[in-house]
Amino acid sequence: MDIASPRGTFVLEEGSRPIVLISAGIGATPVLAMLHRLAATRDPRPVWWIHIAHDRAHHAFADETHALLAQLPDAHEHIYYTGEAPRPDEPYVTQGRPSASSLARLGIPADADVYLCGPTAFMDHFGGFLRDHGLPPERIHTEQFSALPAINPGVTPTAGVRPHQPPGPPGTGPLITFSRSGVTTPWSPAHGSLLDLAEACHIPTRWSCRTGVCHTCVTHIVSGDITYTTPPLELPEAGTVLVCCSAPTTEVVLDL
Ligand code: FES
Repeated sequence: MDIASPRGTFVLEEGSRPIVLISAGIGATPVLAMLHRLAATRDPRPVWWIHIAHDRAHHAFADETHALLAQLPDAHEHIYYTGEAPRPDEPYVTQGRPSASSLARLGIPADADVYLCGPTAFMDHFGGFLRDHGLPPERIHTEQFSALPAINPGVTPTAGVRPHQPPGPPGTGPLITFSRSGVTTPWSPAHGSLLDLAEACHIPTRWSCRTGVCHTCVTHIVSGDITYTTPPLELPEAGTVLVCCSAPTTEVVLDL
């Protein structure tokens, strides 16, 4: 078995601010790794573990997280089962979905670093609550659990929105042309990757890992050159690029 080291940008920040780890279903996986790290160092920061599952049978890593939280000096565990009532010996379990008001009662500090992982609707819901709660967007770290539905690059639109220029002030970098979509726009490092830019323009794409592992985002490059912001696990074939983890170094024309 070949194993690569961890990658991506969803990583636990050092510091002294409180930490809030929020997940739904198997989205617990990356925040569980953070919890392991915190428990291993007996981190003194207050830690909130908030998890939503359907019921006890579908509560992933339940015993493991409970044991890890017990090793921390200031841990707060809140579990929500949408389809099962709590037992008397589980004061940290609530039945139902968390609402803005029930979350407000948890006492999450407004200066916390929040790590959020789960399906898109879940993250939109919690991200909105946390911003309303006063958390600055840069302290809300997210990792989407599921990919968008698979589509054919440049052929099948995901929504009835015509590709367009990205919102916000135009970039000052080299021109990027999405040839199938008929969009040419200047690059800005604010986009992070060519995939981010394509999405900002509503250009049909396909992706899964967004970190250069799966090659789902592989795209033919008609002209120009790119650099990888995160080195792919394996380089794609000549004449193609992984748009999820690349940025242009020259003017670029992509077959999207
Ligand atoms: S989305 Fe997985 S390599 Fe680009």
